[in-house]
Amino acid sequence: MRRIGMAIIAIVTSFALAACGGTGAGGGATTGGSGASQAAGDTLVGVAMPTQTSERWIADGNAVKAGLEKAGYKVDLQYANDDIPTQTQQIDAMITAGAKLLIIAAIDGTALTSQLQNAASKGIKVIAYDRLIRDSENVDFYVSFDNYKVGVAQATALLYGMGITDRDGKATGNAAKGQDIEMFAGSLDDNNAHFFWNGAQDTLKPFIDDGTLVVKSKQTTIEQAATLRWLQETAQKRMEDLLTSTYGGKGTGLKGVLSPYDGISRGIITALQGVGMGPTIKEGLPIVTGQDAEIASVKLIADGVQSSTIFKDTRKLAAEAVTAAQDFLGGKSPEANNTKDYDNGKKVVPSYLLEVDTVYADNIQSLLIDSGYWTADEVKSGVAK
Ligand code: BGC
Repeated sequence: MRRIGMAIIAIVTSFALAACGGTGAGGGATTGGSGASQAAGDTLVGVAMPTQTSERWIADGNAVKAGLEKAGYKVDLQYANDDIPTQTQQIDAMITAGAKLLIIAAIDGTALTSQLQNAASKGIKVIAYDRLIRDSENVDFYVSFDNYKVGVAQATALLYGMGITDRDGKATGNAAKGQDIEMFAGSLDDNNAHFFWNGAQDTLKPFIDDGTLVVKSKQTTIEQAATLRWLQETAQKRMEDLLTSTYGGKGTGLKGVLSPYDGISRGIITALQGVGMGPTIKEGLPIVTGQDAEIASVKLIADGVQSSTIFKDTRKLAAEAVTAAQDFLGGKSPEANNTKDYDNGKKVVPSYLLEVDTVYADNIQSLLIDSGYWTADEVKSGVAK
């Protein structure tokens, strides 16, 4: 049902885009006519993305740019190499260049207050893209996935992989007690990391409380589990340290690792295989979760190495951002489907949240290949073409 719902949203969105593309008017939905077409063509939209080291942000940036251009806007797309000063300078430059709207996926969600103040004073609308921007009144809209549910899905995939629940999270009732796990979190300055963590913790808690799961290192807080900037190397190092400090240097007894992002998952897997575990799940590699359906991880899932990932269809998120941008530039407020969960410390930001799917080896075809996200060849090679 959820997928059908998403398909409907995608179809409606693409019709909306096609309709606006026809007049060339981003704000054409409300203003229409050739005058609007002229205005859209002159209107600059700034798109600030965090990094190109992760595929998802490249896909996001390209899809947002293409959607806005199709709607007739000029686009300034920038990546900031995960460097906060670079991102603030890029946003300053977009404002100076006369951008009428900003779409921002922040590196540090708290670092943009003065840029956004400046934008607001010039009447520039700001859409937070995927990551909520915190501590500022001047965030007009938020488009993202249901980040709490991402965490629930990651923990459920861990429990399922370990034979503790089914794929819907219902306990199988025949799991052994005392199974050792470790947990990783994302970057603490990214608001999403906290939602992923909370969703996962709420899902794992009953099984920790009843003794089915044991976090043997006792590193159970988000601060202990965090991975600054979501870096693969940082996660690999922490996993290596845990293997040495807690698992006799060999991983003895370790059954599962909660990972919030595919890059982190690959760092964890490298560390586990580095002490001789696996190399596949069948051969004893612990269950490792993920997020983003990055091609290198999808191949690992197909090969029975990584257990799962969470698929966030960046095409749909980009389409939502473009729709919201068109609405603002046409003088309307975009439609929100959540007006309570995303308090940024200054206000509750109206949000549009999309649903996610969990990818396992047996649904790579239906979720990722049939939908055109990756080709069968890409999955086989693990390299994006
Ligand atoms: C995104 C995730 C991504 C992570 C690392 C988060 O803000 O929501 O999809 O895995 O950043 O790039």
